Amino acid sequence: MALDTLPTGMVQQKAPVLVHRRIAADHYLMRLESAVAARRARPGQFIHIRCREKGDYFPLLRRPISLFDADGERGTIDFIYKVVGLGTRVLSEIPVGLKVDFLGPLGTPFALSRRKGKVFLIGGGVGIPPLYILAKELMRQDQSVVALLGARTKKWVICAQDFRRLGVPVHVATDDGTAGHHGSVVDLLQRHLDRTSRGIEDSQDAAGPSEAVRSSMSLARPRTRSSLGTPCPLGPPMPAYPASSGGPLMLYICGPTPMMAAAAALAHRKGIPAQVSLEERMGCAMGCCMGCVVEVATEPAGSHARFQRVCTEGPVFPAEEIVWK
Ligand SMILES: Cc1cc2nc3c(=O)[nH]c(=O)nc-3n(C[C@H](O)[C@H](O)[C@H](O)COP(=O)(O)OP(=O)(O)OC[C@H]3O[C@@H](n4cnc5c(N)ncnc54)[C@H](O)[C@@H]3O)c2cc1C
Ligand code: FES
Repeated sequence: MALDTLPTGMVQQKAPVLVHRRIAADHYLMRLESAVAARRARPGQFIHIRCREKGDYFPLLRRPISLFDADGERGTIDFIYKVVGLGTRVLSEIPVGLKVDFLGPLGTPFALSRRKGKVFLIGGGVGIPPLYILAKELMRQDQSVVALLGARTKKWVICAQDFRRLGVPVHVATDDGTAGHHGSVVDLLQRHLDRTSRGIEDSQDAAGPSEAVRSSMSLARPRTRSSLGTPCPLGPPMPAYPASSGGPLMLYICGPTPMMAAAAALAHRKGIPAQVSLEERMGCAMGCCMGCVVEVATEPAGSHARFQRVCTEGPVFPAEEIVWK
């Protein structure tokens, strides 16, 4: 096994492809054998993968893909990707048995609350897979998890069954109304928050984590970040949502930028803490090229612009830190 441990703790490895299959229109799941990456993986982290192993190495740059799952006992990591361009198209042609070169796990993971309560996972398109590995950990910690999954159309609704198998209630929204709620996943979130504030519980919420989930995962560590208190670019937050009376502890959001911005604004209006996982284009994914920076809130508000790297300080950020464009 070719394995280099880099100074940051991530590994560069050529890992055998154990599974590679189409799971929905244009979407593929790949499983790599990597005991060390599986042990180190945390929900919200990603790998940076070389899409072509032979010939002209074109495209030259690796592509970032989030972890969908990690199994420390089996020594495997899984990810799900959608074919959108050259890199993902050539990746989709790699056969089982070949080795692929990846760097990872990379990035700052989701922060987890030590308090018990209700959390919402809000995923859009290929923003859904990283929420699955998070759901596994949250269920292992006995949190009450609800997944709201959005897609443009039914054929692109992915991972719903995976969440259900964990015992997580799933609600779907499609832009064209071909499955679930007709509209955006942010509309769906608004409805659920209204229901939660009126004390109406999700009918499936009683389901706890399966034994398989409890035993297979030991993933996330709580994260502390000094910048969690940075002033919000949207203005002062509203009074806190009544978490003590059954309101949500946290929203975890990943998807297209406009959807994340809308969900973050809704969370802000309701005074609910939220974390977003950003998907900027990347060069190095190691903090060197500055190709992935996003503007974040300044202290004091209105002073010089401040930027952070999605590959290292992110991809997960407190939603109120991001200056949405
Ligand atoms: C931290 C992180 C995690 C990600 N996780 C996943 C994942 O789990 N599954 C998944 O399918 N994709 C994920 N992505 C997006 C994925 O990296 C891109 O889709 C991929 O790099 C596209 O490569 P390509 O060569 O196929 O497309 P290209 O030929 O490079 O581009 C094709 C089209 O896709 C657009 N595009 C490319 N990259 C991005 C991007 N990062 N964000 C928005 N639009 C983009 C381009 O503008 C262009 O229109 C993630 C990105 C980041 C930064
Ligand atoms: S991709 Fe190079 S600094 Fe983030």
